[in-house]
Amino acid sequence: MKKKLPLALLGLLSLASLASVAQAMGRSGANPASRIDARSRVVDASGNIRVPANYRATYSFLGSWAIAADHGQGSKQIHDVYASPGTVAAYHKTGRFPDGSVLVKEVYETATGAMTTGIVSHAEKLKGWFVMVRDSKDNHPGNKLWGDGWGWSWFDASDPLKTTSTDYKANCRSCHIPARGSEWVYVQGYPVLK
Ligand code: HEC
Repeated sequence: MKKKLPLALLGLLSLASLASVAQAMGRSGANPASRIDARSRVVDASGNIRVPANYRATYSFLGSWAIAADHGQGSKQIHDVYASPGTVAAYHKTGRFPDGSVLVKEVYETATGAMTTGIVSHAEKLKGWFVMVRDSKDNHPGNKLWGDGWGWSWFDASDPLKTTSTDYKANCRSCHIPARGSEWVYVQGYPVLK
């Protein structure tokens, strides 16, 4: 009996480590299945995009942008950017955004004031979201919100399900031309991609 105990313990230990490996895989979400899953939750069959539900809990935080105030100190807007599970790991491997990757940029109005660290702006009111969905094969040629390897849409904070964008060439493209060489994404702002 006594001799069998260590074996049983070993079994338990290896079960435990298997479980933690499985958990770690789930967390990193590096498997292609979770990328397809991210896309299917965000895009319907005709290519209509929505803001992903619950992205703050399940997506990776990429980084933030502070837009300087027109006058005086502080920032007038703060933009926080998130990527769907698996995007960061795949980007590290290939240097590219894999098909199905979803990027979400939150746009906040700020409040600025004196704090113990200095003059500080913080996110105050969510104005809405910019969403991009990677599609390097340009699967929606007839849809004006898709092209150049992405689906593109803006959502007012009042309606995360329905975009107000009508044509990415008019609504998005020209502003993203400086980032064309990095698949239209301003990657320099995202420390976790470096
Ligand atoms: C006025 C110029 C401008 C317009 C219009 C614009 N973008 Fe952007 N976008 C930027 C800039 C600059 C950044 C990064 C810096 C920042 O957020 O200020 C950015 C960042 C993003 C990001 C975060 C990922 C990245 O590329 O770094 C997403 C997502 C995004 N834009 C989507 C869109 C979509 C979708 C549209 C159209 C509906 C759009 N943008 C229109 C200038 C613009």
